[in-house]
Amino acid sequence: MSYRLHIFQCLLTFIISIHHVYCIIDYIEAKYPLKGKPSAPNAPWPQPQYLNASSDYVYIDPNFFVIHSNLKDCDVIDNALQRYKSIFFPPKISIQNPDRLDESRILLSVFILIQSKQCHTYPQLRDDQSYNLTIESSYGIIYAENVWGALNGIETFSQLLFITDDNYLATNASIYIQDWPRFPYRGILLDTARHFLPVPIIKQHLDAMASNKFNVLHWHITDDQSWPFVSETFPQLTEKGAFSSAHVYTPENVQDILEHARLRGIRTIPEFDTPGHVAALGRAFPEFLTDCYNGSMPCQAIYGVHAEREILDPTKAEVYNFMNEFLKEVKEVFKYEPYIHLGMDEVYPACWLSNPNIKNFLNENNMSNGTDLMSYFASQILKLMQSIGGKSMVWQDVWDDGVKLPSDTVIEIWKDTSLLSDSPSWSYYLSKATSEGYDAVLAAPFYLNMIEYGKYNTPESVMNLEFFKWYNIDLFANFTGDDDARQRLIGGEAALWAEFVDGTNSLSRLWPRASAIAERLWSSIDVNNPEDAQFRLDVHRCRMLRRGIPAAPVLNGYCGLYEVGMKQSMVNEPIFNYIH
Ligand SMILES: *[C@@H]1O[C@H](CO)[C@@H](O)[C@H](O)[C@H]1NC(C)=O
Ligand SMILES: *[C@@H]1O[C@H](CO)[C@@H](O)[C@H](O)[C@H]1NC(C)=O
Ligand SMILES: *[C@@H]1O[C@H](CO)[C@@H](O)[C@H](O)[C@H]1NC(C)=O
Ligand SMILES: *[C@@H]1O[C@H](CO)[C@@H](O)[C@H](O)[C@H]1NC(C)=O
Ligand SMILES: *[C@@H]1O[C@H](CO)[C@@H](O)[C@H](O)[C@H]1NC(C)=O
Ligand SMILES: *[C@@H]1O[C@H](CO)[C@@H](O)[C@H](O)[C@H]1NC(C)=O
Ligand SMILES: *[C@@H]1O[C@H](CO)[C@@H](O)[C@H](O)[C@H]1NC(C)=O
Repeated sequence: MSYRLHIFQCLLTFIISIHHVYCIIDYIEAKYPLKGKPSAPNAPWPQPQYLNASSDYVYIDPNFFVIHSNLKDCDVIDNALQRYKSIFFPPKISIQNPDRLDESRILLSVFILIQSKQCHTYPQLRDDQSYNLTIESSYGIIYAENVWGALNGIETFSQLLFITDDNYLATNASIYIQDWPRFPYRGILLDTARHFLPVPIIKQHLDAMASNKFNVLHWHITDDQSWPFVSETFPQLTEKGAFSSAHVYTPENVQDILEHARLRGIRTIPEFDTPGHVAALGRAFPEFLTDCYNGSMPCQAIYGVHAEREILDPTKAEVYNFMNEFLKEVKEVFKYEPYIHLGMDEVYPACWLSNPNIKNFLNENNMSNGTDLMSYFASQILKLMQSIGGKSMVWQDVWDDGVKLPSDTVIEIWKDTSLLSDSPSWSYYLSKATSEGYDAVLAAPFYLNMIEYGKYNTPESVMNLEFFKWYNIDLFANFTGDDDARQRLIGGEAALWAEFVDGTNSLSRLWPRASAIAERLWSSIDVNNPEDAQFRLDVHRCRMLRRGIPAAPVLNGYCGLYEVGMKQSMVNEPIFNYIH
């Protein structure tokens, strides 16, 4: 189908707004004009809590623009000012110098005022992430309590800049923003076990996360399929458990990723899932795994339910010795991050109970079922975590089993009627976990690996089904906890399980689909009009393309010079001095 033909045919019927960098054609098919308000070219995503702006513009001279802060020699700020250069002044566009314009219409400088005057090293869950931003003609100020709020302010400022039709860099002359996140925990789960994700791809995900104000990378490093994390204590884990010696994360790679994340205000929580999901670990330590039996026959996979040999045998003392040494190493590698995600999901008790040795162990220890055994395993691992000074995050399964968890454990809710027909809804679990005093994170409705094609189509509206679905989720829907419990619903996480993604498609699979969730987790509950939002998201998607993230399309149309694979016609970069 030729869009061009449609454009000419539909000119009279549909509004087409063309900017130099963005072209938005607001229909899905010619017969379906979209509702909603077309976006400003500099509309920020996620939507700030409070924003007002004048309708006139100021221009920026790349040669004379200055951005600086009251914190000197702070790596987080210095690195941000350096990296935002190419974001403020996008390569491939010759930005015009606005010298012929009136001086009062030039934005000369932005000052970043960090009230704590401290250069924090690593972001923490309940840090103040807020900022205020004002632009008054020639000057802008970003106010923040700490460096993490300042990063959020710089990101928003970068989004407020846009390129006019005649290649001037502009923003609104007067802007006033007060902004803070609705939820402190805004996570992305990347799975590097089903498929390997090369380090540069993970870094691009981190860049995209920063552009969407996500602040936690939940790194599901290992699983049944592979063990790419190089352990210095147990090198056999990758020697036997990685896809190959190239499909690994060396200690240098891991530090590289952690640093890339930290400088963007992103925490990295590693997940080492046990006692299930450990077939790859079992390639290095076969003796740690449980043999499932069918009657008297060992090594029987129970097809369609469970593979053979993918669960630890909790009756073996060596397993705990290993876990003790290994978790100590992990704690040192991820030295700033208090939490380690221990998994503890999807254990198959029928396999444990089929094993004669385990049956004897249960009898000898007054245990009668798989839940007892799971409690026995989990309580030892949780104790280990406390002894090494770590805090635990777990999938909800171990809590469903009634295992007593340390009160500072974070429970991640993934079960829902839509994934397991006999499960209650996620809102039930969220209310229950937070009312019991645990912090909880919601992943259940945000499994972005599950793709759904089509239109949400009613007489009133037509739009992208997936976007509509995620954008409309309110984490507090049907929540029954009290005010204290509400404080413990700390946020949500978009999960990209990697059965069908690797370096070829993970970026365009996740972005901008995860952006819908970014706005849900950051913006006010009142920012809930998906029809307006899709236009802003379309602009944001072009913004991500401009920043080198191959984010997939939202609406029909195109993104100026930044289409993937397009030859550039304007490659002479502007020459500018950038002072800070
Ligand atoms: C934005 O709101 C603030 C506070 O209400 C007000 O002082 C300012 O004049 C407004 N600015 C614009 C551009 O509307
Ligand atoms: C900047 O002003 C234009 C009008 O000229 C307006 O449409 C747009 O929404 C403003 N930008 C922001 C971010 O508010
Ligand atoms: C932002 O402005 C509001 C209103 O003046 C103020 O209460 C708040 O402390 C400011 N936040 C920061 C980070 O400066
Ligand atoms: C056990 O083996 C029998 C005979 O091969 C088979 O029919 C049955 O499905 C097996 N049970 C399980 C749980 O795999
Ligand atoms: C098991 O229970 C029996 C009776 O309640 C008790 O005498 C015994 O000490 C228990 N054994 C263990 C290992 O806890
Ligand atoms: C497992 O056994 C314990 C007693 O050892 C009992 O309290 C518990 O209800 C049982 N759980 C299940 C799921 O059967
Ligand atoms: C909330 O409850 C209503 C009524 O039972 C139900 O239709 C809806 O799906 C629930 N929403 C969530 C997110 O659980």
